[in-house]
Amino acid sequence: STPLIAILAGDGIGPEVTAEARRVLEALDLDLAFEEAPVGGAAYRAHGHPLPPETLDLARRADAILFGAVGDPAFDALERAFRPEQAILGLRKELGTFANLRPAKIFAGLEDASTLKPEIARAIDLVIVRELNGDVYFGEKSRRTTAAGLREGHDLMRYDEDEVRRIARVGFETAAKRRGKLCSVDKANVLETSQLWRDVVIEVAGDYPQVELSHMYVDNAAMQLVRNPGAFDTIVTGNLFGDILSDQASMCVGSIGMLPSASLDAAGKGLYEPIHGSAPDIAGQGRANPCAAILSAAMLLRHSLNEAQAADRVEAAVAAALRTGVHTPDLGGDASTQAMGDAVLAAL
Ligand code: NAI
Ligand code: MG
Repeated sequence: STPLIAILAGDGIGPEVTAEARRVLEALDLDLAFEEAPVGGAAYRAHGHPLPPETLDLARRADAILFGAVGDPAFDALERAFRPEQAILGLRKELGTFANLRPAKIFAGLEDASTLKPEIARAIDLVIVRELNGDVYFGEKSRRTTAAGLREGHDLMRYDEDEVRRIARVGFETAAKRRGKLCSVDKANVLETSQLWRDVVIEVAGDYPQVELSHMYVDNAAMQLVRNPGAFDTIVTGNLFGDILSDQASMCVGSIGMLPSASLDAAGKGLYEPIHGSAPDIAGQGRANPCAAILSAAMLLRHSLNEAQAADRVEAAVAAALRTGVHTPDLGGDASTQAMGDAVLAAL
């Protein structure tokens, strides 16, 4: 049956970049159905909640979700449960998307936008597989006052072996489809959770003899990511380390407007979104770079619809469009959001 794609465009530049991604999906001659629903500040305005039941229902029914961004300065004073950003956290929780994939790859001609030297930046082609539903973010939290009268805060770092196993499998599967190198990042020299992590990753490695596994402490990984990022293929790591390392890796490839992501559940259903936010500073001006959203659509094709060829075509079209010199202002050009989308369509 026809796959259903939920379009949750959201706020700020979310609708602007998502429109271009949808145009690209529609141009592919695949049999796809689209349905839109409000999310974030837009949904709060219309329905009094950032993640209304109809939107959550569509997200559950859909085969995949193309998400824009949420966040609206008009609602910054709202109590936390009603803030637009709660929508994305609520979706991740409700959908059980535990695996976050963030590829970081430099496109030809964008080396100058990187914070790294061009010859180092040119070599970047890696993906970070981050566990998204566990770790210190979701462990027990408390505040207390000690006997000595000092205020104390606690966040429990925890993983069980099933949680580590399922993300390790995503790491090995991802590496197996790439250059066959998986680097597991932990802090096993001091953390018990990391020792469990390492034990389980080594057990899972038995099922993937074709993948070369290595281990690295997170402090060293942070250093190697800026020293020699070209040495990494696939990185698998926990929620906290992955949060920090993936933001770091993203800056190595130039603009935040170039970086897509996927958040996958156990069945391969996913939510796909650019890593950037709603960018209120440029919203409504047609200046947003739609490449991250278009590349997120390519990930959707690859991971949720099993359309690897179509995904390859979209990624090649983005690269070709950029090579023709069509660049949005974040990349130093003057092309509009729509002109960038047009260039990708032309390259397709
Ligand atoms: P942001 O990613 O929206 O913007 C950071 C900077 O990057 C801004 O100068 C912006 O103009 C620029 N930028 C971002 N995307 C761009 C694109 N596609 N093309 C060109 N330039 C781009 O992060 P910020 O400003 O911290 O957050 C703005 C709002 O977005 C906040 O309400 C925040 O909570 C929300 N947010 C939502 C996310 C999501 O929906 N998953 C993720 C991150 C932030
Ligand atoms: Mg982050």
